[in-house]
Amino acid sequence: MKNYILNLFGFFLFLLGHDIAARSILRPNHTKIPLLIAHLRGDDSTRYHIRDSHIEQHPLFVAYDGDHFDAHRLPHEPIHYRYQPEKSVSGKHLSDLIDHLILEIRAGRSNYRDFVVLQDKDFNYRMPVGLLVLAFKRYPFVLKLFIETPESFVNPWCKGVEQIWFFYMAGGVNRHITGLTRLDNMHYIRNKLCNEPKWADFIDTPRKWFWTPLNGPWIELIGKNIHPDGDLHTSIPGVYAIIADCIEKSDEHTIFDAHRRKIALELCNTLDLYIDPHIDNFLIERGTNKLVIIDTEHFPTLVGLKEPQYYKTYTRWYLGLAKKASHDIFFRSKSERQAAQRTRSKLSLFTDRALVVKPVSLA
Ligand SMILES: Nc1ncnc2c1ncn2[C@@H]1O[C@H](COP(=O)(O)OP(=O)(O)O)[C@@H](O)[C@H]1O
Ligand SMILES: [Mg+2]
Repeated sequence: MKNYILNLFGFFLFLLGHDIAARSILRPNHTKIPLLIAHLRGDDSTRYHIRDSHIEQHPLFVAYDGDHFDAHRLPHEPIHYRYQPEKSVSGKHLSDLIDHLILEIRAGRSNYRDFVVLQDKDFNYRMPVGLLVLAFKRYPFVLKLFIETPESFVNPWCKGVEQIWFFYMAGGVNRHITGLTRLDNMHYIRNKLCNEPKWADFIDTPRKWFWTPLNGPWIELIGKNIHPDGDLHTSIPGVYAIIADCIEKSDEHTIFDAHRRKIALELCNTLDLYIDPHIDNFLIERGTNKLVIIDTEHFPTLVGLKEPQYYKTYTRWYLGLAKKASHDIFFRSKSERQAAQRTRSKLSLFTDRALVVKPVSLA
């Protein structure tokens, strides 16, 4: 009797297993779901991938442009300080300090000889990957350091909770990709505001330069089932940084400064939300009293805005963002997803950059 019951139970499990393996009509067809593959340049035998319907061709496959990046590299020559132009430090020396910092990070340290950490919410010290914001201890500059490996690039869950949201809201992006927009967007903002009498003399940004280590790693990205004509391809630096003037804020500056919030939101609306309205991104500068935009990351790329949006208050902005996040993650229809997958945002910074579509065979 006991054996009979066990056999019956075994037969039930067998049927269940069979049932699970059988294809449900509701199960999506995997051969059509976007697939993002990453590997190190020069080693396509170790590949990592993520398959997700949220992955889009823009901006992932156009964010890095070698000519633009190289045109704005940190020079080796002396760089004069923003507040004491008679003083300077050579770009080569700053570059050497960053090289040493990377060695310390790779050795698992979280206190550094030449830098203090300003922000690490998007950084995983253990792997170590993500975005780390630091200040040089002896020079008036800030460093935004971006590190990814092929493995971490296709893993949105290992670099803080915000990056999970951005992945689903903005076509599979992470801070590594959106960091590449920071200089393009700064130039866009400067050009736009210099013709606006209301803002031209009141708004400023720090100077910014790109940096990569000598012989640093490169990540090759391949996108399948995204473009109708074939596989997408791009290469991005695995490690890069942005060096910016460190802005000194005025003493009267407080987080509850209602006036600053009002101006910041008005400015963001003028710029079609090309910058993140978060109040910490705007400092009233000591001495000049100008409003300095320190965070020039292209906000539509970060949260996947496809159309211009305008907000009268911070509360409405937060609610609008929360609504967009829940819609993108839980309530998008298949046709909405497919349209987003292939359409460039009206707010894209990269209208002049072409996608590279070519067959990529992976043995
Ligand atoms: N140029 C700068 N001058 C002074 N502080 C800065 C500068 N850039 C960044 N910071 C500090 O680092 C924080 C994070 O930098 P930010 O570029 O805003 O990163 P995120 O894109 O993650 O918001 C800022 O809120 C500010 O406190
Ligand atoms: Mg910021």
